[in-house]
Amino acid sequence: MAEDRILTTRQGHPVTDNQSTRTVGDRGPATLENYQFLEKISHFDRERIPERVVHARGFVAYGEFEATGRIGDEPASHYTRAKLFQEAGKKTDLAIRFSTVIGGRDSSEAARDPRGFAVKFYTEDGNWDLVGNNLAVFFIRDAIKFPDVIHALKPDPVTFRQEPNRIFDFMSQTPESMHMLTHLFSPRGIPATYRHMEGFGVNTYKMVNDQGETVLVKYHFHPRQGVASLTEEEAAKVQGADLGHASKDLYEAIERGDHPQWDLYVQIMEDGPHPELDWDPLDDTKIWPEDAFPLRHVGVMTLNRNVQDFHNENEQIAMGTGVLVDGLDFSDDKMLVGRTFSYSDTQRYRVGANYLQLPVNQAKHATVATNQRGGSMSYGVDLAPGQNPHVNFEPSLHDGLQESPREEPNDAPEVTGRLTRSVLERRNDYWQARGRYVTMQDWERDDLVENLGDLLGDCERDVQERMLWHLFLIHDDYGTRVGEAIGLSADDVRDLEPLPGQVLTDADQQRVAALG
Ligand code: HEM
Repeated sequence: MAEDRILTTRQGHPVTDNQSTRTVGDRGPATLENYQFLEKISHFDRERIPERVVHARGFVAYGEFEATGRIGDEPASHYTRAKLFQEAGKKTDLAIRFSTVIGGRDSSEAARDPRGFAVKFYTEDGNWDLVGNNLAVFFIRDAIKFPDVIHALKPDPVTFRQEPNRIFDFMSQTPESMHMLTHLFSPRGIPATYRHMEGFGVNTYKMVNDQGETVLVKYHFHPRQGVASLTEEEAAKVQGADLGHASKDLYEAIERGDHPQWDLYVQIMEDGPHPELDWDPLDDTKIWPEDAFPLRHVGVMTLNRNVQDFHNENEQIAMGTGVLVDGLDFSDDKMLVGRTFSYSDTQRYRVGANYLQLPVNQAKHATVATNQRGGSMSYGVDLAPGQNPHVNFEPSLHDGLQESPREEPNDAPEVTGRLTRSVLERRNDYWQARGRYVTMQDWERDDLVENLGDLLGDCERDVQERMLWHLFLIHDDYGTRVGEAIGLSADDVRDLEPLPGQVLTDADQQRVAALG
């Protein structure tokens, strides 16, 4: 018998019989002081924590990021003082969680759905989370609409079925979603595996250098494995055999030493509102055209280690857009600000107040010293060396924690403006969807039309008409072809007025006129 593999309770008591509950006589009844049984079954009763409200199905792997020391052709320090980017060859440990968005924890990984691409960098300055997706844009540009877009995409609250009519009811009233929908219903909407997809930060961030100068930034990961997707038919076959093919593919690749890699690039824009553009740099429904804002290489990410326990490292990992390090900053992107509240809020509920003490979430390469104490499942105290354990407040004369001597830059921008609820002025909702539509290859356009037509075919007439109106505003061919798929034409939608409050560009208005 292996003495070091003896089964115990969590109290450290050896278990001599794991097959039978303790009973009075061999036929019962069972007794209530049956500690071993009670501990085992009541822990089992609590094995699940709430699944994530979105991105419930996912898979974690570990790896490292190796910096080039440069941002494109320039030293990284030109744009940011973030330590992880400074030296060529500098390596930073990381965890990544890939996910689908809408399905529950055991749902199909071959669904037509965006994929999460969330990276936690364990830097010496504390953790940096870059919580992105595989598609470069998003459905909405204001965080207050997030619960609505997710409710529309999630199952019906009565029938618990994902219903095209609910999805397109919302989308048809949300013209900024047209760009994302054009990506999602194209072949890119079902990545073949997690290893074969891109990753994008989507929202606009900032970088800050030693002089306190800032630039606007977008992040892009490109897979060295190439990008591959599944058609609707291929996906149906894959999920008929296995709901978790993408997790399996990643796990097995890492186990056999076939370590996937991604190049990290950034796009950089001078900080400011850029009135010369007819779109807003803080609008996450837009990409930044690469001819004007080229991709600049900053390093390579390699995944080389699997999780040891799915629950501890996948269900309990917690990432959020508020988790930045010195040299990386927020922009005023309204989505980003809303996201930043939401992530840690849900994690305090989903995992618990002390979620940052868990090994997968700890800032393991930085010193953590706080005056936070207590809360359920607290198992450690963040004491600094020499800190008086009686002093959990600041300031104190008696060896408590002190503020960092690092100076906050004193050149922070001055912010003025009337409190308001408004939509970004430069919306230009159809332009980039059109760009995407016309640059697709023929087979991709065919696939897009078929995929959208299939789902719109199941919608009610008013939803179909409004969706078709948007598609005509994107491109005549797009509207005509999807219309043919659902038995409608421009004649059926030409009398529709723009949506309340909708701002059309001159070009959009010409297309509306052309409909008539
Ligand atoms: C997960 C909120 C937009 C990417 C989540 C979670 C929430 C959330 C509550 C669950 C987190 C958890 O339980 O740990 C929001 C809100 C958004 C928003 C309020 C808009 C205002 C986005 C966008 C992206 C994104 C635009 C892509 C850039 C992700 C990813 C995860 C996630 C990848 C999964 C993180 C993980 O793997 O643990 N989001 N989200 N979200 N979100 Fe968002």
